[in-house]
Amino acid sequence: TWKNADEIKRKREEALLGGGEERIKEQRKKGKLTARERIGLLCDPDSFIEYDIFMEHTCTEYQMQNKKIPGDSVVTGHGLVNGRPIYLFSQDFTIFGGSLSNVHAKKICKIMNQAMLVGAPIIGLNDSGGARIQEGVDSLAGYADIFQLNVMASGVVPQISVIMGPCAGGSVYSPAITDFTFMVEDTSYLFVTGPHVVKSVTNEEVSHEELGGAHIHTTTSGVAHKSFENDVETLLQLREFLGYLPQSNRQEAPIRICEFPCDENAPLLDNIIPLETNAAYDMLDIIYTIVDERDFFELMPKYARNIVIGFGRMKGRTVGIVGNQPKVASGCLDINASIKAARFVRFCDAFNIPIITLVDVPGFLPGTNQEHNGIIRHGAKLLYAYAEATVPKLTVITRKAYGGAYNVMASKHLKGDVNYAWPSAEIAVMGAKAAVSILYRNNPNSEKYEQEYIEKFGNPFLAIARGYIDDVIQPRTTRWRLCRDLDILQTKRSKNPTKKHGNIPL
Ligand code: COA
Repeated sequence: TWKNADEIKRKREEALLGGGEERIKEQRKKGKLTARERIGLLCDPDSFIEYDIFMEHTCTEYQMQNKKIPGDSVVTGHGLVNGRPIYLFSQDFTIFGGSLSNVHAKKICKIMNQAMLVGAPIIGLNDSGGARIQEGVDSLAGYADIFQLNVMASGVVPQISVIMGPCAGGSVYSPAITDFTFMVEDTSYLFVTGPHVVKSVTNEEVSHEELGGAHIHTTTSGVAHKSFENDVETLLQLREFLGYLPQSNRQEAPIRICEFPCDENAPLLDNIIPLETNAAYDMLDIIYTIVDERDFFELMPKYARNIVIGFGRMKGRTVGIVGNQPKVASGCLDINASIKAARFVRFCDAFNIPIITLVDVPGFLPGTNQEHNGIIRHGAKLLYAYAEATVPKLTVITRKAYGGAYNVMASKHLKGDVNYAWPSAEIAVMGAKAAVSILYRNNPNSEKYEQEYIEKFGNPFLAIARGYIDDVIQPRTTRWRLCRDLDILQTKRSKNPTKKHGNIPL
């Protein structure tokens, strides 16, 4: 038995060293931490419990039987983040390029299954050359097993992918299914086919970074939710982010005691809306003033900037915030903004997080580009997501709420629980100019008619007279009112009709 103990000790040491000093040096040269260093940063000190450190791949092609490293190319287990459990895997690029063997996949599936049983988030630290080429279809099978579990875990426990190196080919579809994807700038990339394949098929010359780096995915494709400067910053921000999320759909998000007053006016809010109805302002100024401690974790801040999404806390409780952004494209809803907000609304609904919607929307973005690319289908996603959501829905119309976009943005008609308007609200089918151009085509007195229209509809009066708005409130009272409403809505119970699942327009 002593011999066994020595052997186990030796194997454990071998596993802890990953692909060896040389390869670790290579990893560092690229500005990357090792798989285990990353775990050390993400988890509370000494909280990580590892699984399957002795599992080895089973491949016998290409003399692979002679090349085995205990644990293979991924480290898996559970740990604590600010005292709360998470399950995680961390791919080790120093071992066979972090490539996914069947055993690598089995290790990941084991912790995913356990996370679902326990009810704890699943975090994937991705750094991998993709399917283990020597294993052929066994490796592909491993991927599919992970995808299947990603889908089963969706809406049960939060799933977060962090891309910290290559993630190509089949590997991209696990991050694609998980709730949030974060990337490390300059060292990570995500694509279905790499630059070599692109060149051979389409003759296009493109670099890794241009094809699928952090910049592209956080600004243009919308594949990633946020990027950070380096490994350390990414993992620290991930710890922060996890603090907003519940452990599972069976639990409430954690409450962080708030030193900020929750029952006082915030006079700053009275001066945000410009006098001129078409002048821009920053919706973030409102958001920062209504959340606890001006603390707002914005998601997708550089993508579809005409809508803002992210998490904050009110009276210590997590809320999801969606706000039109008048600073960008006048806050119009377009295809990308609709999809961005819709997926966020669905995450909040799946995980019992109340949704605060701040509305200043002149409508859907007109034009052939939007129509031809299916704004009807995509805009409907946001409508669908709001209508289906049963969590507390609180809406404040700060200024414009025009047309179909008025309906979509968590209106009373989509079962909004609390719908407020600021005195500056304008709730109408469209703006004055557009309305008059239709009602009085080619009429030389259009200015007069526009004035008349503004008097009729450039205000919240008709909407309050109908009960579509519960109250008109002074901006300065918004924070404490919403905190109070969230208190009462805590016991809200609402259920949609029983069905296998709905059919959201995809
Ligand atoms: N299967 C098996 N081994 C792999 C691998 C894979 N998918 N990807 C990388 N490796 C190995 C390499 O053979 C190399 O091993 P060696 O050092 O013993 O020769 C090691 O991992 C490091 O890879 P290397 O190519 O030297 O690293 P790099 O940083 O220059 O490039 C990649 C990284 C990911 C761009 C490159 O390895 C690659 O293109 N891999 C294949 C990607 C792919 O198409 N995968 C299929 C997706 S389903």
